[in-house]
Amino acid sequence: AIKKGVVEFKHVTFQYPESEVAVLQDVSFSVKEGETLAIMGSTGSGKTSLVQLIPRLYEVNDGQVLVDGQDVKLYPIESLRNGIGVVPQEAVLFTGSVTENIGWGKEHATEEEVVAAAKDAQIHETIEKLPNKYETRVGQRGVNLSGGQKQRLSIARALVRQPKILMLDDSTSALDLKTEGKLLTALRKYSCTTFIITQKISTAMEANRILILDDGRVEAWGTHEELLKTSPLYVKMVQS
Ligand code: CTP
Ligand code: MG
Repeated sequence: AIKKGVVEFKHVTFQYPESEVAVLQDVSFSVKEGETLAIMGSTGSGKTSLVQLIPRLYEVNDGQVLVDGQDVKLYPIESLRNGIGVVPQEAVLFTGSVTENIGWGKEHATEEEVVAAAKDAQIHETIEKLPNKYETRVGQRGVNLSGGQKQRLSIARALVRQPKILMLDDSTSALDLKTEGKLLTALRKYSCTTFIITQKISTAMEANRILILDDGRVEAWGTHEELLKTSPLYVKMVQS
């Protein structure tokens, strides 16, 4: 049981190098090994910026981001090797087969591993219906996939590496509730620490805790029940 994935933000302030204002201010919270944190907040509140700090796509200006207690300066590619899986808000496919797209960057991904990840990501059935199934070319000049299908391929790409930390940036927005439910159930067996950015209360309620961002600040952080008492923004989302 080496798998960990404890994440701690301590008074993190962050501003993009090219920007004048901080997009995250004094953000503090922690996530235990294997727990799921849902992140909610209006557009531009800093959700994507926050999760990008875990694989160190950027350095923070103040405070600390600790992964398993360490404030290591990881390059994004190192963090991939260290079990941090990011499913970006805009899924990126490159030109190549479905298998290559899922196995990308993982040396020696077996056929079985690719199919298992695709099944868990709820994209296997779609792939089976493509002209050449797993050998179908996607990306430029490949078959067209919908936004939601691309998102799920991108989830499979993260799962095939058995991540200890998984970040889903609005990755389930295009899924119907039933498919999303199956995906969340399948994720449980990976027992990874999971960050799930979502607009849906039903998704957030599945998480251990919820973090509400408001203009780069933590408006509230706690369980669904706690937020009903402490977060006016959350209550508003529940009622709408
Ligand atoms: N931002 C920036 N430079 C970037 C990316 C974002 O200055 N390279 C700014 C955005 O203009 C925004 C703030 O950072 O004011 C937060 O952006 P983001 O974290 O992307 O917000 P989200 O909460 O993820 O918004 P959305 O729901 O639309 O994805
Ligand atoms: Mg975003």
